[in-house]
Amino acid sequence: MADRPVVFSGMQPDGVLHLGNLLGALRPWVQEQSLYRNYFCVVDLHALTRQEPRDLAQKTREVAALYLAAGIDPEQSTLLVQSHVPEHAELAWILGCFTPMGWLERMTQFKDRSRKLSSERIGSGLFSYPVLMAADILLYKTDLVPVGEDQRQHLELTRNLALRVNRILGDTFVIPRAKIGSIGARVMALDDPSSKMSKSADSEAGRIGLLDPPDRVRAKFRRATTDSGTAVDLETASPGVQNLLEIYRSLTGAGERELAEVFQGKGYGRLKEVVADVVIQELEPIQRRCHDLLQDPVALDRLLADGAARARGSAGATMAQVRQRLGMLPAR
Ligand code: TYM
Repeated sequence: MADRPVVFSGMQPDGVLHLGNLLGALRPWVQEQSLYRNYFCVVDLHALTRQEPRDLAQKTREVAALYLAAGIDPEQSTLLVQSHVPEHAELAWILGCFTPMGWLERMTQFKDRSRKLSSERIGSGLFSYPVLMAADILLYKTDLVPVGEDQRQHLELTRNLALRVNRILGDTFVIPRAKIGSIGARVMALDDPSSKMSKSADSEAGRIGLLDPPDRVRAKFRRATTDSGTAVDLETASPGVQNLLEIYRSLTGAGERELAEVFQGKGYGRLKEVVADVVIQELEPIQRRCHDLLQDPVALDRLLADGAARARGSAGATMAQVRQRLGMLPAR
């Protein structure tokens, strides 16, 4: 077990998880869970950058329950809440002192989010968000970080930061690699296939919530944006149609041939029905298990406490090394 590569990944409890989170991250985590030593984190400190932390405890439990419901096995993987392991925030401060401002100014997610607000209203946590993410990853000497496409730039910053600190302090951190799938790593909004499906978009119509009931899932797919055509042509499919096909491929593992057999020349109405069917089938058992898990918050909290205790073992060892290399006076 100890010699397996270390995996770390996380999700923010800043809304209900959606199909993009499932296909881009959660499902790949589950599928490859037995190959690695895993840490799966609910990153509640990151969610504070939204500056409207409503129902944070409830959402944190919900994300943890969805991890388990989707198949994360707490025997095989360490499941933790970020704020339960204070070393995350401590390492983030230290790394922040080594992170050039220019690197953070170039982050496209920061630019996108901050464009909507004046600098008087943006918390500096939004700016240093990628530093906390780097701390999450580097704390566990992580080898691989399975994420969706939108996290690629943050991972690049994490790698550069680890290289920089290693140069200054001597070999301290493992240089992690992003693990981004070839299918499902960028699920687009159903109502606007030019932007990614996201928890924060105002429009509910664009995302399939993992807890959406079947009739809502079906209604959202029926209204999904396609184009002015009527039948599927795999060669020339528009972004909206491609997005639906990709969701299907991601869930069924269908190859090009099967895709052609099922959809080529068939109407968009049928495409939407078939894709809605496979999504509903996938979500049904997840929703049932999630509902059951949330019935017993005490058991869930106990499991998260176990996970945090395990995580603190590794995180504490890294921090002891970092403090020593920085020449900090040990507390007696
Ligand atoms: P978050 O909470 O935005 O998203 C969680 C995971 O879901 C992926 N994802 C998507 N994949 C495909 N299509 C989409 N439309 C889509 N939307 C989201 C994300 O890429 C991510 O893998 N910064 C991270 C959380 C984080 C983290 C970490 C991740 C904090 N520390 C350390 C890895 C390692 C985030 O905001 O994820």
